[in-house]
Amino acid sequence: MNNFIYHNPTKIVFGKGQIKKLHDLVPAMYPVMLTYGFGSIKNNGVYDQVKKALYGHQLIEFGGIEPNPTYETLMKAITLIKENNIAYLVSVGGGSVLDGTKFIAAAAKFDGADPWDIVAKKTPIKEAIPLGCVLTLPATGSESNCYAVISRKETQEKKDFGSSLVYPQFAVLDPLTTFSLSQKQLVNGVVDSFVHVVEQYLTYDCKALLQDRQAEAILQTLAEKAQSIINDEPEYETRATFMWCATQALNGLIGCGVPQDWSTHMIGHELTAYYGIDHAQSLAVILPRVLESQIETKKDKLAQYAQRVWQLPTEDVLSLAQKAITKTETFFRDLGMKTTLSEYCIDPQEASQKIFERFTKASTILGEQGSMTPACVRDIVIKSA
Ligand code: NZQ
Ligand code: ZN
Repeated sequence: MNNFIYHNPTKIVFGKGQIKKLHDLVPAMYPVMLTYGFGSIKNNGVYDQVKKALYGHQLIEFGGIEPNPTYETLMKAITLIKENNIAYLVSVGGGSVLDGTKFIAAAAKFDGADPWDIVAKKTPIKEAIPLGCVLTLPATGSESNCYAVISRKETQEKKDFGSSLVYPQFAVLDPLTTFSLSQKQLVNGVVDSFVHVVEQYLTYDCKALLQDRQAEAILQTLAEKAQSIINDEPEYETRATFMWCATQALNGLIGCGVPQDWSTHMIGHELTAYYGIDHAQSLAVILPRVLESQIETKKDKLAQYAQRVWQLPTEDVLSLAQKAITKTETFFRDLGMKTTLSEYCIDPQEASQKIFERFTKASTILGEQGSMTPACVRDIVIKSA
């Protein structure tokens, strides 16, 4: 196991009816900005609960943060923040609203020429407006991590940044808020959180027995509950399990001291940036082909995953590894998720060339061993046809 520092400052406030706790969680002495997306929180009653809980606080609203939040939209909040001396942000919605809010928090205090540098050049942030969130969509883990993924329409880019200054100070997780999610959003959430675990787990053995078991527990729980999450009438305990799995999948715990391979996410972000497919849709297309391309280096872990998560009977390591990849793809497809580019009418030749050129220009090398070159990525995208 590698050395690590684990520090996660987000206070989780979990359970039914917990939105009312916002009253005490959000400081009352500052003007506060509420950030949200489009209609969802107004249609499902979450907006009303938030407004009631924050009665007496000085509130300004900034709605209209879109899925895959854009720099262009988010920068509009900065003027409003400065005009109103906003000193605290409360994000209400899914991962996009929260990621956008993290960017706003950092951009409002940025002392350089253009806040896009936070994302594009990874310019370190020295200050950010403190923030908290009410999360309504289990998927990204953004509610308890220090990352955000921001898109720029003008240049068709989608890039992440991270800073300990943008950890939410609190995250209210009320599983009842997920009852209004559509089946497509639920499928996306299951797949995204599943892939977050996979990318911290399917690498090579580093004797991190506990982290392995923690990762396997999340994968098994998601696999066991997935059909019920997406098909059954909403039920509190199932949604609570799902919500906690998604948070645990990317709050830093299972990634402590272990090698990680975020190549599927990095390639997937490019597919979303160029073709607009949902984040989780991009992952379901790319992950199986990444695993196939890296089977030599990942085969031991894949075999362990085959047996512990999918309960496959013992056989040789390579056969188990191959079966684990098939199982994963079948799991996605059984949820109704597509796993090929052609199903999204994306030309694999064109997509692979665009990504190859961008990764070559940026000297992007991926994989836990740093062995996945732009040429290797091009091959993976072509094979995702
Ligand atoms: O805009 P509104 O009206 O709120 O509707 C949203 C949106 O259309 C809707 N929604 C959210 N909660 C709902 C609801 N509809 C009904 N009932 C509810 N309770 O769902 C739609 C999608 O929301 P979005 O926030 O885009 O989804 P998600 O949470 O999956 O976030 C995706 C974004 O997060 C990034 C992705 O790249 C993508 O940009 N990620 C962030 C990460 C992080 N910060 O650590 C890691 C992830 O890997 C991911 O990259
Ligand atoms: Zn993700």
